Amino acid sequence: MGTIDDWNQYWNENPDSKVLFTGDDGKSILDFEHFWSKNLPNETAMQSVIDIACGAGALFQIFGDKRFHRKVGLDCSVDALNSLKKNVPDAQVILNKASQLPKEKLIEFDLIVSQFGIEYLGAEAIKNMPTMMKEGSRFIALCHYKNGHIYSRYNREKEGMETLFEIHAFENALQIADLIVTDPNVYEDRAKQYLSHLSTLDNKWCAGSLHFVNGIKQLFLAYKHYEHSDILAWIKGFEQQLETIYRRVSAICDVALSTSDIKEITNGKYSDSWVVRPFLLKNKNLPVAWDLRFKKE
Ligand SMILES: C[S@@+](CC[C@H](N)C(=O)[O-])C[C@H]1O[C@@H](n2cnc3c(N)ncnc32)[C@H](O)[C@@H]1O
Repeated sequence: MGTIDDWNQYWNENPDSKVLFTGDDGKSILDFEHFWSKNLPNETAMQSVIDIACGAGALFQIFGDKRFHRKVGLDCSVDALNSLKKNVPDAQVILNKASQLPKEKLIEFDLIVSQFGIEYLGAEAIKNMPTMMKEGSRFIALCHYKNGHIYSRYNREKEGMETLFEIHAFENALQIADLIVTDPNVYEDRAKQYLSHLSTLDNKWCAGSLHFVNGIKQLFLAYKHYEHSDILAWIKGFEQQLETIYRRVSAICDVALSTSDIKEITNGKYSDSWVVRPFLLKNKNLPVAWDLRFKKE
């Protein structure tokens, strides 16, 4: 999502969203939880931790009973931070609307973590992380992987929505729906043509675009069972919803880090201290994330 307003809207609508990325079964991906329980330092009771782009506090909830001396969530969305305060009452929050991270704050922490978050501030923010850390501190992040498992799924969703926009599916649907009252004889033909055009593109539809195609088929074929005004409202509402989802999905694809982004991030003065590997889920061929770690010696 491009803007802070979009994120506020997202967190407003999903205040308790702990599960941003689900498996094919719609359930939370336990591998992420295992990743964090395996990779957090053993002794944390005396440590301070900051979660960059924390959202509603999914990570601190995954950390569960693990004790920290201080827990802080940083995000650009005030709604996300309000949820975090409810979900994790012992955490403090930092609202950071700037495009850069606040070095004077990060330098205080022993552990800096991020889960599908810091990449929204750009690859440069990750590259600069070592300059913002105190000696002995660690950075651990899972970041979106370009052409990986999550990326491919969202890219396909994005292409489906782009196809609907390109063929002016909503505009045309509204015009055809108008014929129901203005010219019912022409309506039948136009609706049939419209639906058969959508059918020729069947391989494009998935997720949101597929729901639209199935829904409009149902409405156009059984239009006599619906109020005309309901049909129009459904089409307009769906268009608006898909525009929001499109921005959300595009942002995920845009911020995903490519292999050359990783080279750029780890190149330079601190190159020896970065450890970066693809993170794979069981039974999936494509990596689901980059596992990025840095220890400031
Ligand atoms: C995909 S969500 C991940 C949230 C959380 N880490 C989780 O695992 O549930 C991305 C988060 O990045 C935040 N974000 C996006 N751009 C940001 C920025 N420039 N500065 C701080 N946070 C940002 C959003 O508000 C959102 O909460």
